[in-house]
Amino acid sequence: MKIIMLGAPGAGKGTQAKVISEKYGIPHISTGDIFRANIKNGTELGKKAKAFMDEGKLVPDELTVELLLDRVGKSDCEGGYILDGFPRTIPQAEVLTEALAKTGDKVDFAINVDVPDEHIVRRMKGRRNCPACGASYNLEFNPPKAENTCDKCGAELVMRDDDKPETVAKRLEVYHEQTQPLIAYYEQQGVLRTVDGTLSMDGVFRAIQDILG
Ligand code: AP5
Ligand code: MG
Repeated sequence: MKIIMLGAPGAGKGTQAKVISEKYGIPHISTGDIFRANIKNGTELGKKAKAFMDEGKLVPDELTVELLLDRVGKSDCEGGYILDGFPRTIPQAEVLTEALAKTGDKVDFAINVDVPDEHIVRRMKGRRNCPACGASYNLEFNPPKAENTCDKCGAELVMRDDDKPETVAKRLEVYHEQTQPLIAYYEQQGVLRTVDGTLSMDGVFRAIQDILG
């Protein structure tokens, strides 16, 4: 099963992709996480990507597409995968469609997690991540048991560099301009499914499960 998660920054793509990945036994591939790992490791790609990410802009397609095609070509993706944060532009979607078509394949579901902008700003303010194990929390909606400490590994939680309010505003603007058109693109392919992303995390997951079966 090949699944794409669509939705604004902070809509809950990563939160849901993680549980879908566990439940259906397919890898969760987040281009944002791949870029952040490169930034942490100080790679050339990380240096290039950071300049765009810190401004809330998209990393250019030239740096993103090859990386993604290489990742989905790995053996753990043979039984499918869930993409979180890719595609984000129409050209990226076209590359993916063409790459899959070469083997007579296609995306099975594009799940659009629909959340209005005003909810997004509130969620981003509260998001905290564990730099050690990658767990994600929200001070308001999903707080850690001990203040600022990861429940799973005890590391100190951090806020993402691009979650500052001014960067969030820019990311939302970029989303509406460049990524939202993918909703019509996948609707046309007959694979779009929209879920109400303002429900609780469990509620959103139940809605997605109903779709995936
Ligand atoms: P990326 O890491 O993909 O960020 P994003 O799309 O902006 O999305 P987020 O990760 O911020 O949000 P999410 O939807 O995963 O929400 P989450 O589950 O964390 O990309 C970062 C940057 O990398 C981009 O800006 C770009 O520069 C670059 N990039 C990446 N891919 C690219 C590509 N393909 N092309 C070009 N550039 C690319 O949830 C958010 C918060 O809300 C959390 O705190 C969570 O706990 C909480 N929450 C989740 N669900 C609920 C709920 N139902 N109720 C209440 N709270 C909830
Ligand atoms: Mg994410």
